[in-house]
Amino acid sequence: MSAKIRTYRPGEEQVLYDICLLTGDSGADATALYEDPRLLGEVYVGPYLRFPAALALVGDESGVAGYVLGVPDTLAFEQWCDREWWPDLRDRYPLGTFPDGSPDDRIVRLIHKPPTASLDVVERYPAHLHIDLLPRLQGQGDGRRLLTALLDGLDAPGVHLGVGLANQRAIGFYRRMGFTEVHAYTHSLIMARRL
Ligand SMILES: CC(C)(COP(=O)(O)OP(=O)(O)OC[C@H]1O[C@@H](n2cnc3c(N)ncnc32)[C@H](O)[C@@H]1OP(=O)(O)O)[C@@H](O)C(=O)NCCC(=O)NCCS
Repeated sequence: MSAKIRTYRPGEEQVLYDICLLTGDSGADATALYEDPRLLGEVYVGPYLRFPAALALVGDESGVAGYVLGVPDTLAFEQWCDREWWPDLRDRYPLGTFPDGSPDDRIVRLIHKPPTASLDVVERYPAHLHIDLLPRLQGQGDGRRLLTALLDGLDAPGVHLGVGLANQRAIGFYRRMGFTEVHAYTHSLIMARRL
């Protein structure tokens, strides 16, 4: 049975944070990696549920089991996060909260020094997105349907995303969905497509 696709509803934040953690290790369960189960969600989900121009869609099949989150203008989103999202998180998670070099510590460092999208990418592909489905929703066309619904709703000329090189399954999915590699880092790729 395919999932019902609908807009995220306030109150579902914890479910989305859980899905983020359950898929946070290159698509696999990252629960054992992190001491703090909310950290990943605070970076990759929370701001997308608050930023006014963001689109947040969920796949609902006997409960929310997947999401796709996107913003049409990455630079505007980064500026909003600088003002509205990171300051409170920096207070709650000072540098040194977790052991040096641990997975939690890497996320805390990111909260204190968030990476910014490169200008040549955002010029051509100003939107960006994140998509995660629980295993029970994967491989049945729901990823395609969720992503297509988001792309239809994004008012932008192009969209990009970041994906770890270890996540070859997702890279195959994005290629199939029309994304191509536009930038390669040591451990990750930026992929993009025009809309
Ligand atoms: C990656 C993910 C979003 C894909 O969603 P999905 O529901 O499993 O994918 P779908 O079943 O909708 O597949 C859509 C199309 O992509 C194709 N596809 C999927 N994975 C593929 C792969 N690894 N290689 C080639 N094609 C692939 C499917 O065959 C399908 O093709 P078709 O519609 O033309 O027949 C989902 O598996 C997921 O959430 N994984 C865990 C979290 C994750 O890795 N998120 C990405 C982080 S960057």
